[in-house]
Amino acid sequence: MTETALITGANKGIGYEIARQLAEYGFTVLVGARDAGRGEAAAAKLRAGGADARFVPLDVTDADSVAAAAATVETGFGALDVLVNNAAVTGAFEGDGKPSTTTLATLRQVFETNVFGVVAVTNAMLPLLRRAPAARIVNVSSEVGSITMTTDPAGPLWPMAAIPYPTSKTALNMITAQYAKELWDTPIRVNAVNPGYTATDLNGHSGFRTAAQGAEPIVAALTRPAGGPSGQFTGYLWGASDGTEYGTLPW
Ligand SMILES: NC(=O)c1ccc[n+]([C@@H]2O[C@H](COP(=O)([O-])OP(=O)(O)OC[C@H]3O[C@@H](n4cnc5c(N)ncnc54)[C@H](OP(=O)(O)O)[C@@H]3O)[C@@H](O)[C@H]2O)c1
Repeated sequence: MTETALITGANKGIGYEIARQLAEYGFTVLVGARDAGRGEAAAAKLRAGGADARFVPLDVTDADSVAAAAATVETGFGALDVLVNNAAVTGAFEGDGKPSTTTLATLRQVFETNVFGVVAVTNAMLPLLRRAPAARIVNVSSEVGSITMTTDPAGPLWPMAAIPYPTSKTALNMITAQYAKELWDTPIRVNAVNPGYTATDLNGHSGFRTAAQGAEPIVAALTRPAGGPSGQFTGYLWGASDGTEYGTLPW
């Protein structure tokens, strides 16, 4: 039976690639995007490549939009097999990203999308995920959310000191763990996955992986046999840049 996957922020970057690769595995992919033009264009491009792709309007910071997206999925499919909470913003790494100069406005903006948006979308979709035989949720996280990695003076993240984006991913990791615990005795698996440092608009294309490579560990976590692990933080380790080495990251 064809499985259905909703990916938030799927109009570009890693989210688009997750949709493209899941479609290659035979999923019907629902392209969540906050802008109708960008979302329709992405879905059309995926369809041109052979995918069963549909645009679903979804601004994760807008409660009405989240409710409408859940209603659209319910009307169209009745259940949801996969939810990928991918949409995110960085705020600023420099200037007001430094702890001492962080503005609450930036912090709120980043948390609205990367943290509150994930809880809003997940809770709206959970009734549909519960109806699927073995649903999976992947929260797209980052190594910069790992407290263990960021406090290692010998590690690659030591030079970075910023609050908004890193703490949003730390919160996302804990959110992942808490959903995994609540849903432990259900078939639903909930994991956080790190795409690694990837060249996208998010970082001015400074990353050293392609978006296709960044999507791979996420797609791998979504296409393994039912009954797999839950409450894990996996993905690329910082130095593994050949596009094949996944592992478990420290929280
Ligand atoms: N790139 C990296 O090096 C890297 C590393 C680790 C983790 N990640 C994570 O990977 C995920 C994808 O990032 P990316 O690099 O692909 O970034 P990206 O190219 O900037 O894409 C971000 C996506 O999120 C969407 N988005 C932002 N706010 C939204 C909202 N309120 N509602 C719905 N969609 C929204 C954007 O839509 P618009 O086009 O409308 O803005 C866009 O589609 C994020 O969770 C990011 O934190 C990235």
